[in-house]
Amino acid sequence: MKEIKTITCIGAGYVGGPTCSVIAQKCPGVNVHVVDLSQERIDAWNSDSLPIYEPGLKEVVEETRGKNLFFSTKIDEAINEADLIFISVNTPTKNFGLGKGRAPDLKYIESAARNIANVARENKIVVEKSTVPVKAAESISRILKCNRKAGIRYQVLSNPEFLAEGTAIKDLLNPDRILIGGEQTPEGKEAVDALASIYAQWIDDERIIKTNTWSSELSKLAANAFLAQRVSSINSISAVCEATGADVDEVAKAIGLDNRIGKKFLKAGVGFGGSCFQKDVLNLVYLCEALNLSEVGAYWHQVISMNEYQKKRFASLIVKCLFNTVTGKKISILGFAFKKDTGDTRESPAIYVTKYLLEEGAKISIYDPKVKAKQIMMDLTDPQLGLDPEKVHKLVTIEKDPYECCQKSHAFAVCTEWNEFQELDYARIYQSMLKPAFAFDGRLILDHDKLVRIGFQVEAIGKCVHSLPDSPMESGINDIFGKQLLARNRS
Ligand code: NAD
Ligand code: UDX
Repeated sequence: MKEIKTITCIGAGYVGGPTCSVIAQKCPGVNVHVVDLSQERIDAWNSDSLPIYEPGLKEVVEETRGKNLFFSTKIDEAINEADLIFISVNTPTKNFGLGKGRAPDLKYIESAARNIANVARENKIVVEKSTVPVKAAESISRILKCNRKAGIRYQVLSNPEFLAEGTAIKDLLNPDRILIGGEQTPEGKEAVDALASIYAQWIDDERIIKTNTWSSELSKLAANAFLAQRVSSINSISAVCEATGADVDEVAKAIGLDNRIGKKFLKAGVGFGGSCFQKDVLNLVYLCEALNLSEVGAYWHQVISMNEYQKKRFASLIVKCLFNTVTGKKISILGFAFKKDTGDTRESPAIYVTKYLLEEGAKISIYDPKVKAKQIMMDLTDPQLGLDPEKVHKLVTIEKDPYECCQKSHAFAVCTEWNEFQELDYARIYQSMLKPAFAFDGRLILDHDKLVRIGFQVEAIGKCVHSLPDSPMESGINDIFGKQLLARNRS
């Protein structure tokens, strides 16, 4: 088996950057090059201000960068030097043409594969790190073989990444498993072993699973589909809780204590976001449809439909509670990232909640501890979202401080579960807001009883939280609208 001395990763994103930083840290004898088309991204990786926020990432990069970890745009050079090449480019859902809205766009994978074939002068192990449809390795293999220089051999492996953002470094250092799929031939098995020997430098053998290529590719899609399905399932139950008086946290605890179900991924909320769940479930749905398994596709598509319903339900709840109109009212959005401990906003539920409220004419003020103002504006003015950019610039303000964000607003809505939102001085926030002051907890992280005692009208996903009878709300408003609110049909 050939020893891997140099690794190149094509794609310096949320996966390529952290994964290779950890490989460099754990394998000091291996040189790791991370390359990308984007000069801006590479410059950021080479600076003190990394292009992505991940707890613990900066420390790992600082320890290894310039020693055995290198970031550059010299893609061809890095391909040539490598024994093993990770393809870690983006695979977004297609937004045009055949398979629009479902199929993954594999153009970046294809261009990376063609680039390897064009420049490689020696044998290479090529590893799919990106999430791809089943049989993508076959396409990569064909591109490489049809374009290879004489005498060069390639082995294509599947090695999907299971890290979650916000905990990427922890997940990479201590993964539940490493999955490596390869051809069931002596050369294929040798390549699998070569990659396994890299991971074996810090992960025990039992957690390194070797399978055939197609099982590996399908396992990644299936894992994300199962995780997303759990979130949609508990979110569906949250709607039943609101209509019945059950409490979704209590239900999640009761069912999660069953060992067969387990506790994780049962937190109800405003809906799942992130670059993976929706894309990968849609990818699975498309695959099923292409395989004539339309019932299976329809089953998984319901996970996405439930998520759409949940985001819309939360936004509608805000409108309904604010006396059925938010036109001209200031609403504060606390949290814009798709989850805590990341600055990533891809498919963030906050984008859709904000969109819905803007369409109703609300003035929106946004605070997030890690997402840059430029990113928020880019998300809200993205043509795919369909909002009028002029309207967005007129109605949206972005604040650097949560108290400033909530000043003179009618309501605040928590859309990301940042820890710091649990520590805010809500009495101070209440004082600065218009009355009745509404608190919408889309992540179930706040102390609802405390908020009610302060005087807030509290609304939370999957719960019926009421205001106190002697709440500082003006009694007339409480009588007329309070009863209506409690009796409302929240679905
Ligand atoms: P990303 O958009 O953050 O990064 C991809 C990078 O690839 C970009 O910087 C882009 O410029 C670069 N790129 C594209 N084509 C290129 C080419 N031909 N040559 C050089 N560079 C090129 O994407 P990501 O979030 O890192 O995701 C990468 C893959 O990993 C996707 O398939 C995704 O589904 C999968 N994945 C992501 C996560 C996650 O948490 N983000 C987790 C597991 C798996
Ligand atoms: C996910 C997978 O977890 C990871 O294994 C895969 O490699 C990439 O996709 P990620 O999207 O980064 O990771 O974060 P994850 O923690 O899975 O959360 C996804 C979304 O689901 C977030 O919006 C999160 O807030 C939401 N979520 C998660 C819930 O609403 N409730 C939960 O109980 C768990």
